[in-house]
Amino acid sequence: HLENKTPAGGWSFDGPLGRWDVAQLQRGLKVYDEVCSACHGLKFVAFRNLAEIGFDEGQVKNYAAAKQVPGIDPNTGEATTRAGLPTDYFPDPYPNDVAAAAANNNAIPPDLSLITKARKDGSNYVYSLLSGYGDPPAELAQQFPDFNTPPGLYFNRYFKYLNIAMPPQLTPGQVTYDDGTEATVEQMSADVAAFLTWTAEPKMQQRKQTGWAVIGFLLFATILAYLAKQQIWSAVK
Ligand code: HEM
Repeated sequence: HLENKTPAGGWSFDGPLGRWDVAQLQRGLKVYDEVCSACHGLKFVAFRNLAEIGFDEGQVKNYAAAKQVPGIDPNTGEATTRAGLPTDYFPDPYPNDVAAAAANNNAIPPDLSLITKARKDGSNYVYSLLSGYGDPPAELAQQFPDFNTPPGLYFNRYFKYLNIAMPPQLTPGQVTYDDGTEATVEQMSADVAAFLTWTAEPKMQQRKQTGWAVIGFLLFATILAYLAKQQIWSAVK
């Protein structure tokens, strides 16, 4: 399989000065919400965490209330569903792995909370995978005449096994962005990859900023130590 692609213009969160592009994270949530959440869970993210990507309390409450989460009927004690609260976590789309596999040609859609950490070069990988469907290149057929894509699988040059059980998910204009951004396949892929980078490491920006404060402090402490040394040894020729 191929080296991953990076979106044109790179990632706002890359490098030591990397910062989240909050508008992008919100667009990515929309893609997850309207497309990926049909098959993939996000079990380590609570609705209240959305406050960290620029939603206010009312928006978080409304967002949660629009989701059904597992609950217990207070009268019968039986399992049921109820409207979500900000403290609830994103619900799983399937009750268990057997149901998930049954609905997906025997493949289980992995939880996406940590996927950008679980795969090498995760942000670029998710971006490349989603926008990477297409026909096998001619060289592949030449080199490996027996290679084929069985029914129920889809060729994707970025997937480790080349044939993936996830059908292509994104078509141009599939979501309507609230900020007017044009929903090309590349755009949606990049936005959802950025969002999943945030779900996997929500404290990334703080971590990088703390690093600069630490370097600043060490520099300051080094200068102090040098000046103190000069003073202590000033009498010695
Ligand atoms: C696998 C992302 C939508 C079904 C995956 C993987 C990622 C991913 C990163 C893991 C690939 C790997 O193992 O390296 C997404 C995103 C989606 C989306 C970001 C929304 C844009 C969907 C939907 C379905 C689905 C709607 C169901 C119709 C699957 C299945 C697998 C999978 C069955 C397992 C594939 C295999 O192991 O062959 N997806 N997915 N995905 N996804 Fe999705």
